[in-house]
Amino acid sequence: MDNIIELKQLTRSYRQGGRVFAALSNVDLNIQKGEHIAITGKSGSGKSTMLNLIAGIDHPTNGSVEVSGIDIHQLDESKLAAWRGKNIGIVFQFFQLIPTLTINENILLAMEFVGKIPKEERQENASSLLRLVSISDHRDKLPAALSGGEQQRAAIARALANNPDIMVADEPTGNLDSATAKSVKEIFATLVAQGKTVIVVTHEAVEDGRFDRVIRLRDGKIVSPDNTTSQMQEQA
Ligand SMILES: Nc1ncnc2c1ncn2[C@@H]1O[C@H](COP(=O)(O)OP(=O)(O)OP(=O)(O)O)[C@@H](O)[C@H]1O
Ligand SMILES: [Mg+2]
Repeated sequence: MDNIIELKQLTRSYRQGGRVFAALSNVDLNIQKGEHIAITGKSGSGKSTMLNLIAGIDHPTNGSVEVSGIDIHQLDESKLAAWRGKNIGIVFQFFQLIPTLTINENILLAMEFVGKIPKEERQENASSLLRLVSISDHRDKLPAALSGGEQQRAAIARALANNPDIMVADEPTGNLDSATAKSVKEIFATLVAQGKTVIVVTHEAVEDGRFDRVIRLRDGKIVSPDNTTSQMQEQA
């Protein structure tokens, strides 16, 4: 079994007043290399919490996240940041491009920060990513000069800057019109076809067969994986 991500008894809880509230509760889940996964569920069900724990942005209260055999939350902050930069591409709902840098510079900065791509290859890599997401014509503009869909495609190009094996996206099409959302979804499908593992949080209906697996969360627990496999145990 070629698991790239293993969540074991993953729990994130918060203390509220005198009570403990679990945003995510004892979740066990294995994700295989190359899978296209949707995480869905109502507002407050724990989707962003789960994604942020997988990306090493947030830390578990209990349990573990193993990615390619590395227990990522055992890494110290600087090692975790370096690991994240090399291995995970992250796309947020509100793009989060650096407003004072052009689109091209935003992508180059991601490469500089991580240092994985050799200096002399960075511009060529940026250009090919801009082509992949079809925004080459906008490369020298500031983010504010682009439409929402163009900014989201720029954010995807930036997330791919260091050629990560895993791409996670939190409501990446939540702020886009349906045609633009479709083009973003097609980019994710292309990445899956290239062998990347793509995990997308979405509120939308996911019945169109686009995903290999749909993980449904309710109150911080997995309630209905589309195709239950032996490696995935629903928590009672
Ligand atoms: N920093 C925090 N402190 C306290 N509670 C939190 C914190 N972050 C999240 N929560 C709570 O954890 C639960 C899960 O939050 P999460 O953001 O994962 O939900 P979500 O499924 O992504 O929702 P949405 O669809 O609205 O984005 C919510 O009830 C939320 O209020
Ligand atoms: Mg959320």
